[in-house]
Amino acid sequence: MAYAAFRSIGAYAPTKILTNEDLSKMVDTTDEWITKRTGIKERHIAQDKETTSDMGVEAAKLAIERSGIDKSEIDMVICATISPDYFCMPSTATIISNKLGLGNVTAFDISAACTGFVYILSIAKAFIESGMKKNVLIVGAEKLSAITDYTDRGTCILFGDGAGSAVISATDNKDEAIIDVNTGADGTYADLLMTPNGGTGSPHDALSEEGNACFMQMKGNETFKVAVRTLTKDVVEILEANNIKSEDINHFVPHQANFRIIKAVGDALKMDKEQVVVTVAKYGNTSGASIPMAINDIYENGSLKKGELLLLDAFGGGLTWGSALVPFSPLK
Ligand code: ACO
Repeated sequence: MAYAAFRSIGAYAPTKILTNEDLSKMVDTTDEWITKRTGIKERHIAQDKETTSDMGVEAAKLAIERSGIDKSEIDMVICATISPDYFCMPSTATIISNKLGLGNVTAFDISAACTGFVYILSIAKAFIESGMKKNVLIVGAEKLSAITDYTDRGTCILFGDGAGSAVISATDNKDEAIIDVNTGADGTYADLLMTPNGGTGSPHDALSEEGNACFMQMKGNETFKVAVRTLTKDVVEILEANNIKSEDINHFVPHQANFRIIKAVGDALKMDKEQVVVTVAKYGNTSGASIPMAINDIYENGSLKKGELLLLDAFGGGLTWGSALVPFSPLK
């Protein structure tokens, strides 16, 4: 049986920065409130003409280059996004694949909000272990600024744009294989986080009533509580199932939604501060891009080393959740 190895990481953040100070001129908020309640100081925002696929391509180029695998060997592209280039089709993955010149490879998107990256990791792993694919490019990319209501202070302070990508490849070496990926969903909480307009579930006249709005809406406080509970439970389950202790984890990479959520989960799991990766201050919540952007940060600052064990933990709209135990296994 083939195993699936996490070979490389890449990420991209647009150059334009939106600070808390900037937001305080747009809605009734302050840097102090945002910092205290979320830990976010700034977020990166794409240019008007910069698309989700443009950002995904930049992250993917780095991931492919760092993987040491020729792009002609990539046989599948999966993109996790809730802010695709086009509402229905083509998928953002096919656009990324075309822009990268990957040829006629399988390409599709999935929608699992902030859990998107863990979901595509699980799909890549399954395709590789089944022998159907050998080198899968996974991309989490979001232009959340396009679906953010900048008159709603409860949500606009949270979200940013960016992309992260990884190459997952077949290996015979079990030591370098992804150990486990666990995913789940509970649709009874669907109304906590929604883009209520613009789809077939919205009233026929919703767009004309509320302008051209396909904006995110969130019951923040309720979401917060479910997030802490779900993220903690998810990690306990995957560690127990694989007989791994939290002290065996080199880098715990939770979804970057809110520093208070990250701290509550880290504390509940008795993780040392040094184990917990926190990038929310500079990127905000980039949904499906948040985990790979955070992994890329520790790769680029030199703290992620070959063979180290990553624990990923995500939570998002749907509700969806997922966790993964991933040794970092670059070829070089
Ligand atoms: N500035 C100042 N005051 C604000 C702001 C703001 N930006 N936003 C809300 N407030 C006010 C509220 O109006 C409220 O005022 P009131 O007491 O007079 O009614 C007060 O602050 C408290 O509001 P809460 O919503 O209870 O604040 P909370 O501490 O819960 O923080 C937040 C809000 C930051 C949104 C938090 O609930 C959160 O992070 N929730 C989870 C987000 C998350 O994890 N999302 C999941 C992933 S996202 C995805 O999948 C796309």
